[in-house]
Amino acid sequence: MAEHSFSLIPIDVPKIKSNHRSIQTAIPAPGTAEVFDRLSKVESRSMHGQLPLVWESAEDFSIYDISGNKWIDFTSTIFVANVGHSNRRVTAAIRSTLDHPLYSCYAYANPVRASYLEKLVSFAGKPFEKVFLLSAGTEATEAALKLMRMHGQKKGKRRRGIVCIENNWHGRTLGAQMMSSNLEQRAWIGYQDADIHHIPFPYPWRLEGRSGADFLQRGLEQLAAKGIDLSRDLCGFMLETFQGWGAVFYPKDFVQAIEKVCREHGILLAFDEMQAGFGRTGKKFGFEHYEVTPDLVCTGKGMGGGVPLSGVLGHAAIMDLPEVGNMSSTHSANPLVCAAGLAVLEELESRNLVAEAERKGKLFREALESIQRQFPERISWILGNGMIMAVLFQDPATGKADGPFASRVAERCMQKGVLPVHTGRESIKLGPPLTISDEALLEGIAVLAESIAEVAAE
Ligand SMILES: Cc1ncc(COP(=O)(O)O)c(C=O)c1O
Repeated sequence: MAEHSFSLIPIDVPKIKSNHRSIQTAIPAPGTAEVFDRLSKVESRSMHGQLPLVWESAEDFSIYDISGNKWIDFTSTIFVANVGHSNRRVTAAIRSTLDHPLYSCYAYANPVRASYLEKLVSFAGKPFEKVFLLSAGTEATEAALKLMRMHGQKKGKRRRGIVCIENNWHGRTLGAQMMSSNLEQRAWIGYQDADIHHIPFPYPWRLEGRSGADFLQRGLEQLAAKGIDLSRDLCGFMLETFQGWGAVFYPKDFVQAIEKVCREHGILLAFDEMQAGFGRTGKKFGFEHYEVTPDLVCTGKGMGGGVPLSGVLGHAAIMDLPEVGNMSSTHSANPLVCAAGLAVLEELESRNLVAEAERKGKLFREALESIQRQFPERISWILGNGMIMAVLFQDPATGKADGPFASRVAERCMQKGVLPVHTGRESIKLGPPLTISDEALLEGIAVLAESIAEVAAE
């Protein structure tokens, strides 16, 4: 995220009291600067940059701060609270492991883990047979990198080539950063793995009438120019299901053409579903939009409903490649996170939240497109699917991406009782819990429209 600091000086804002919002203090609220001050003394500054709201509690789609103000949440923290904040079923499941009592048992066997993994494999459906659990998303993408390479080695590939997509992002550990193409963020590494390649992303504004499949062809030609032989040098393609900052999906035929290349040349296809999984896009997993079948899927965020849980899912033949002890993690499969993960799946199913995300996603898009019609000179694109949408802003004079405007709109939304995701770029991302009511969703979008109008008029 580009550096951007929001002011901590409280300003008087109009008081708001609606069904879903309550702003009764200056914003940032009294006490906010003190908490920021304490944190800034003892915490790495890399953790900062979010909108200045001190979370006191959160329930379902509402966030409360330390002064009792109430926001409609359009962040789900960061696409984590798919089943709603402090979800009752998830809370009860966590509590039952504490009362049992057992909340840590390393990799020793445990029935809750067995129940969770059985349920997860059945939720994911074919071809997923086995899962490896971890805690952070970046560990899951690293594990997929390792599995793709181990698979390639087993098949006797000459090189360990992994193809990634420009500007996609996969986490903050070494391998994940090399697969990401944020050059600034990976400058600390000092070198790039010569077998991790990047091909261009088919942004809608770059296609210029070409099909996704044609666009991919250009990327494959770039690989060929580097002397890469698809069959002998490549083990995997790693795709972020959509590009995070702007919820930019690929054209379906781009991904289908990648799948074809993978099948023809014995290459594994992996999706990084960190943001896209567990109903977020109106499907169980986001890759379903492309009608392809991945070999590996990396999951996290919404998977745990708020506890640190991530994983990799795949065929048994791939998931069993590492020897005993070569792929495990101290906390990854503890009963507490497994109980929470199981409750998330039960909640998604019993409340039909995946279908609900698809239904509400249509409302969401229609409402945002109507805002775009109101501000055609300011809003360049509305992107996304289901309950993950992005609004991209441009400078009306130059038509260029307008990051500062997006930041000001995000801040104004916060002052009015709606919390969007501030990206530090020209986008605002909106990803409420899938449980949000239609009324609160539309109220939140109306606040976005008001905020755009006010900031544009200033
Ligand atoms: C697409 C994607 N991959 C990987 C990650 C890394 O996940 P974590 O922060 O849990 O390590 C993220 C987190 O934002 C992500 O959005």
